[in-house]
Amino acid sequence: MKAIIFTEYGPPEVLQLKEVEKPVPKDNEILIRIYATSVNYGDTLARNFKEITPGKFNMPFLLWFFAKIYFGFRKPKITILGSEFAGEIQSAGKEVRSFKQGDQVFGYLGQNMGAYAEYLCMPENGCVAIKPTNMTYEEAAVVPYGAIMALNLLGKVNIQPGQKVLVNGASGGIGGAAVQIARYFGAEVTGVCSTPGLELVKSLGADSAIDYTQEDFTQNGETYDLIFDVLGKSSFSRCKSSLSQNGRYLLASFKMKQLFQMLWTSMIGSKRVICAIAPGSKEDLISVKELIEAEKIKAVIDRRYPLEQIAEAHRYVEKGHKKGHVVITVEHKQNLINQEELK
Ligand SMILES: NC(=O)c1ccc[n+]([C@@H]2O[C@H](COP(=O)([O-])OP(=O)(O)OC[C@H]3O[C@@H](n4cnc5c(N)ncnc54)[C@H](OP(=O)(O)O)[C@@H]3O)[C@@H](O)[C@H]2O)c1
Repeated sequence: MKAIIFTEYGPPEVLQLKEVEKPVPKDNEILIRIYATSVNYGDTLARNFKEITPGKFNMPFLLWFFAKIYFGFRKPKITILGSEFAGEIQSAGKEVRSFKQGDQVFGYLGQNMGAYAEYLCMPENGCVAIKPTNMTYEEAAVVPYGAIMALNLLGKVNIQPGQKVLVNGASGGIGGAAVQIARYFGAEVTGVCSTPGLELVKSLGADSAIDYTQEDFTQNGETYDLIFDVLGKSSFSRCKSSLSQNGRYLLASFKMKQLFQMLWTSMIGSKRVICAIAPGSKEDLISVKELIEAEKIKAVIDRRYPLEQIAEAHRYVEKGHKKGHVVITVEHKQNLINQEELK
């Protein structure tokens, strides 16, 4: 099968299209023919991990160290990236009960990766579910990561209808999903992004959008029950006066300093710092599927690239200003044959 392999850390050029052995499912696994995958923050980070010093890593030192052990210090141990996908089940192991051949599925692989390929095997109890009926493969492939993260992290703060929520980094993968999910919880949502993302953020349901290149949301006199900072670009000290009396400052990216602030604010004062990691579970994926089918979450495809041009996609995502998602389409020889037959 075709796959994008990388055997050295480095710039996007290290991603090479190669022929590799097609995986064979174990008894408890499904073999998925992948039609679409994505490029997100984690893919670009893992591809260039040798250059990621503890200072550049958006998490505490200990997590950086574990990630180095997991991904490899000098050379990548995981050679196929891609953390989310949509496709069709080609075959299922003999113990598999919840899926069958021909099922259309989507899923999230997290740090296991492996979706930059024509085929993928995963256990039936992994983070995989039947694809939402109202999405194409391309759309379904780009939603899981951001939506699972946003749903899980927002679940830590118990948003109530009518509360005011600000999402900083609202035009990205996690932030875009957070805007939609916070709206679903009945919050009044403000999204913060740069000028080109304003319309997108409003189209996702934000009641208002702030352009961080023009306005500092910590200085506009507004207060929020929740400030969710996806990239950790703000700080608790600057946001404190923008939080309501029992306001929560939620961080998806944090260091030891913010962990100490979390501990400190849990003991003193009414405003809290919350740092959390979302592992990505099947339950969250199924909740995401239900929200998609209820039309509460939509996919925003910024750019499309074929698998062969994945280095180009990485170059774009690495700039850090994609709007929503970047999808990678995976064409199969069989599809081409079928299309030829139809002519
Ligand atoms: N806690 C967890 O479990 C967990 C899991 C996965 C990832 N993460 C963290 O999530 C982050 C990646 O999030 P993502 O995948 O959503 O990234 P993304 O899709 O690349 O989006 C990042 C967004 O941030 C915006 N942005 C850039 N600079 C900004 C600034 N100064 N102020 C406000 N917004 C700014 C960009 O919008 P503009 O173009 O408008 O600037 C962009 O749309 C990483 O830091 C990672 O460590 C946490």
